Amino acid sequence: MRSLPLLLLPLLPLIAAEQKLRFVQIWFRHGERTPTNYLSFPNDPPIDMDKLPSNKGELTQKGINQEYTLGQMLREEYGDFLGEYSSDKIVAHAGEDNRTIVSGQAMLAGLLPPKNRVIADLPWQPIPIHSRGNLDEVSFGIFDRCEGLEKEIKANPRYQEIMDSIDPPLLELLRNKTGLPIEDPYMYQNVLDSIKTKFNMNSSDLPLPEWVLPIIPSISNLSTTVHTQMTKILNESSGGFHAELLLSNIEDALLLPSRKAFFLSGHDTNLFVFGMFFQSKDLTENLCQYAAHLAIEVYEDTSVPATPDSITIKFFYASNLTAPREEILMPLCGDPCTLGRMQRITEGKRWSERRWRNFCEKGEDRVDENQAIGNGVLTGSLLIAVAVLVLTSILLLYLTCSYRKQLVALRDPEQRPLIS
Ligand SMILES: *[C@@H]1O[C@H](CO)[C@@H](O)[C@H](O)[C@H]1NC(C)=O
Ligand SMILES: *[C@@H]1O[C@H](CO)[C@@H](O)[C@H](O)[C@H]1NC(C)=O
Ligand SMILES: *[C@@H]1O[C@H](CO)[C@@H](O)[C@H](O)[C@H]1NC(C)=O
Ligand SMILES: *[C@@H]1O[C@H](CO)[C@@H](O)[C@H](O)[C@H]1NC(C)=O
Ligand SMILES: *[C@@H]1O[C@H](CO)[C@@H](O)[C@H](O)[C@H]1NC(C)=O
Ligand SMILES: *[C@@H]1O[C@H](CO)[C@@H](O)[C@H](O)[C@H]1NC(C)=O
Repeated sequence: MRSLPLLLLPLLPLIAAEQKLRFVQIWFRHGERTPTNYLSFPNDPPIDMDKLPSNKGELTQKGINQEYTLGQMLREEYGDFLGEYSSDKIVAHAGEDNRTIVSGQAMLAGLLPPKNRVIADLPWQPIPIHSRGNLDEVSFGIFDRCEGLEKEIKANPRYQEIMDSIDPPLLELLRNKTGLPIEDPYMYQNVLDSIKTKFNMNSSDLPLPEWVLPIIPSISNLSTTVHTQMTKILNESSGGFHAELLLSNIEDALLLPSRKAFFLSGHDTNLFVFGMFFQSKDLTENLCQYAAHLAIEVYEDTSVPATPDSITIKFFYASNLTAPREEILMPLCGDPCTLGRMQRITEGKRWSERRWRNFCEKGEDRVDENQAIGNGVLTGSLLIAVAVLVLTSILLLYLTCSYRKQLVALRDPEQRPLIS
């Protein structure tokens, strides 16, 4: 008899832990696009704008289809869990860049076709996508978007050092051939982006100049290197903001019984910054490719009361559209990574949207101001409380005094009202 419980012991964890998928958050990259800055370089022959597959920086038809396919693949994975669309269940955000919005629309078309037609002619239903510019303010995306921060970064010696780290013959070649001065990392990254994007498109309508061919084998390395350097400078701020995004989405969802999924249609750099912050090699070895995704699954252990430490987070990553999804670990969070642990390792490091907004606009981290606002609210309500207290006291004192006076008056026959 005594050995029975011992025999059952190995089975205990199986019986005890009943992991149930509660919420999934998916961050994905937009599909194939045209170059964002240089459709061609000043020294290139002019391109035929009529043949351009889409405007600068916008998705190509292939890019739209990649996102639609991504949606269908996610439907295979999460279709049963999600069920039919409803606004309390599913929330989708995108950046302000058109390509992230269009990507979100195409993805959702693949993920959530209506069971019964909503529009008679279309197997499609409109699903809201909220656009928020701060998803585009990432890595070199802060240029032209964050006035104050851009100035700060340009004055930062670490930013200047990026230029010094570029192989001099490569820089000279790029300057000679493009006809661009390439004096700062921003312009350098835009040149790399143009080369990488056109190579991926492989379209005769947007031809790649011959001279870049020797650079092609190292283009991914060069591009990842410059984004690594930039992302490291902004690790605390931008990384902290991305950590806040991830965690607040989970925390909010757990308070809303019907919430099941959150989709974030963004950039390769959103995943990169996230990986840099959580020290994930998988996410930072290379920038991810078009329609890559990171799925963040949140499990509840239904056999115990829900606490942050009974909630587990799993990460699944596909670095491109066709790559098999693989579970990856966030070394900082350990395995299993619980919500409680995630909260502890990010304690004091999460940057609120407001703090990031301020940093982006002004280029300085005005924590004091944030606190002052917090204190201000406190001081304001304290002041009111004190004022109420003082007024009440005065009133009470007055009432007491006048009551006393009346009492005295009553006792003093001389002062008794004549008519009473
Ligand atoms: C979006 O598209 C419009 C129209 O082509 C263009 O003017 C605008 O610059 C684009 N904006 C972004 C952020 O992609
Ligand atoms: C760049 O141009 C200069 C002047 O035309 C030339 O001397 C130099 O060899 C070129 N360098 C490269 C890397 O093409
Ligand atoms: C690019 O396109 C050409 C012709 O369409 C094709 O022959 C070639 O294999 C493609 N190159 C790559 C790298 O996909
Ligand atoms: C780029 O290549 C160099 C030299 O091979 C290597 O040391 C470096 O780690 C690579 N960087 C990235 C980001 O892949
Ligand atoms: C970024 O910040 C996080 C949190 O402080 C830290 O764990 C991580 O190592 C940092 N990454 C880099 C590359 O400095
Ligand atoms: C996609 O990723 C997988 C796994 O990393 C890789 O084997 C494959 O070559 C990639 N496909 C493309 C088109 O880059």
